[in-house]
Amino acid sequence: MTEREDEYEKIETVDCLGLPMLPNMLLEHVKSVSTMTPRVGDIFVVSYPRSGTTWMSYIVWEILHNGEPLPPADDMIHRLAPFLDIVGAEGVEYLESPRVMRIHLPYHLTPVSLKAKYIYVTRNPYDCCVSFYHFAQNLKPIYQFDGSFDDFFENFYRGNVPYGNYFDHFLSWFEHRCDPNVFFVSYEDMKINHETVVCKVADFLETPVKHDENLVRKIVENTEFSNLKSAHKVNISRFLLSGESEKKEMPLNYFRKGELGDWKNFFNKEQKRRLDEMVAQRLNAIDITTLWHGAI
Ligand code: A3P
Repeated sequence: MTEREDEYEKIETVDCLGLPMLPNMLLEHVKSVSTMTPRVGDIFVVSYPRSGTTWMSYIVWEILHNGEPLPPADDMIHRLAPFLDIVGAEGVEYLESPRVMRIHLPYHLTPVSLKAKYIYVTRNPYDCCVSFYHFAQNLKPIYQFDGSFDDFFENFYRGNVPYGNYFDHFLSWFEHRCDPNVFFVSYEDMKINHETVVCKVADFLETPVKHDENLVRKIVENTEFSNLKSAHKVNISRFLLSGESEKKEMPLNYFRKGELGDWKNFFNKEQKRRLDEMVAQRLNAIDITTLWHGAI
């Protein structure tokens, strides 16, 4: 083990249901989610952080609302597609069906029911790590992490980030990718085949959207990166986290670059080699070339 691998700034985490979480998160809310009972028609958008959750939740909203203009970001966060791990089970109790909810939990902690549908979005771990690093920087007062990308990489590599190890999370859902109530899709596929993915999600949600070319085009346009970036401006002080951080006003920047392969601007050779090795070890039987569309 090199010096760098051993000495790095660690993200302070606490255990919550076996996952490392930030100490100032509302852990009771996370716990409440794993025991909630889904309703008929519930739609869960599930992912490891920074995999395209927000993008997919907008696609779902657009499909269910016939390509209407994007709703205000605040509405998305509080009512239209709230983050379950943040608002907790109680926070979605009074929402009308069909409820759309975002969640970052692995399969065994997600409230799974045949009455509900689950859209799992995955993204290659290299870009995910880079995006996650920038997110942690964006939320410095909450992450309390002042380290470099190299420091963040060590945390990510060892699974010491909120929601834990990337590979455990991915594999927990990959096993269920063919379940009738699961739609499994990659961020890379969304980037390369945006329109096809919209049609597939619409089919999965049992809507006739794909038969209306104009509508599909409108949904694709509304959910393009630049449109979402300008529409989705959020301040997190009102809804996130406990204690001191509650008092802080922070713009939450979900939309950064939205590109494939940005990892090349951040990873050094050794980091690439180590993550390659981990990918080979953990995902050895999986066709990652198709899944990640050459982003690596
Ligand atoms: P980057 O940081 O690489 O830009 P999540 O919503 O799960 O937190 O994922 C955030 C990532 O999805 C960010 O990645 C963000 O820019 C990207 N993203 C969001 N909407 C997108 C879109 N319409 N097209 C491409 N990428 C998008």
